[in-house]
Amino acid sequence: MSSSLADLTACGLDLAVEDTVATITLSRPERRNAMTPAMWHGLAQVGAALPERVRVVVVRGAGPSFSAGIDLRMFSAEGVPGEQRQPSAAEPGFEDFIAGLQAGYLWLRDDRFVSVAAVQGHAIGAGFQLALSCDLRVLADDARLCMKEPALGLVPDLTGTKPLVDIVGLPRAIELCLTARTVGAAEAAELGLAELVVPAAELDHAVADLVAALLSTDAAAARATKRLLSQAAGNTVAQQAAAERAAQAALLRSKLPAGG
Ligand code: CAA
Repeated sequence: MSSSLADLTACGLDLAVEDTVATITLSRPERRNAMTPAMWHGLAQVGAALPERVRVVVVRGAGPSFSAGIDLRMFSAEGVPGEQRQPSAAEPGFEDFIAGLQAGYLWLRDDRFVSVAAVQGHAIGAGFQLALSCDLRVLADDARLCMKEPALGLVPDLTGTKPLVDIVGLPRAIELCLTARTVGAAEAAELGLAELVVPAAELDHAVADLVAALLSTDAAAARATKRLLSQAAGNTVAQQAAAERAAQAALLRSKLPAGG
């Protein structure tokens, strides 16, 4: 991945891969990690190129905020310096353009690893959706989550609506999005939007502890179990029981010595 690291830095991302743990840092703190299409494409690039050995992906933000969402200069005539011109909704291919941005978020659900968002300060709009795209969220007690898009005349379109509804339920998701109100860390924990809330100074330590615990289980079993759990909501009990049997058989067969 080293040849593309310079490109990642240019689009406001840092990537560190240490053995089985990849850490992605949104690193535009002077703009509160405001996000651009180049950054979203960079995230997709990271997802596509992660080594097979990676078991945990941590997504964090540098500075006081996790992410202030889309770089609002995108909506100005001047745009963001260095960013390519983006198609307008009036042009053909606009949905394809959004699909390319969504690719930066979708890969975080991959069965290969567990993704963990470490959220301090604001996670707004596209930033909140990035945290929602991770499997787990650890929040600092100063975290403030907001789905701001409807207040700006937009819908949330960076893959955050499904995890939001899955986690908080439809009525609460409607209330949160259509009021665009801010949810603090304590309420986020009550709603299931945080697995853990810790004092801000302890966020990195708490995430490191969680990562260590995630790495303590068998790698192949962890991957197969995440796959199983991810499909449970869409299955009947009978279908899920069948999936459990198949997964167990495949896992144990994969561990048999060659030749049985
Ligand atoms: N885009 C561009 N620049 C931003 C930014 C953003 N989203 N958020 C913050 N910045 C810049 C500020 O302009 C400021 O720059 P200067 O120092 O040059 O003035 C710098 O970052 C620091 O910002 P603040 O002084 O405001 O920092 P703060 O800590 O007091 O407040 C904040 C932080 C609450 C996040 C506040 O900056 C804020 O409300 N930002 C805007 C959030 C927003 O509305 N985002 C859009 C979400 S909707 C979305 O994301 C849509 C989508 O998916 C398509």
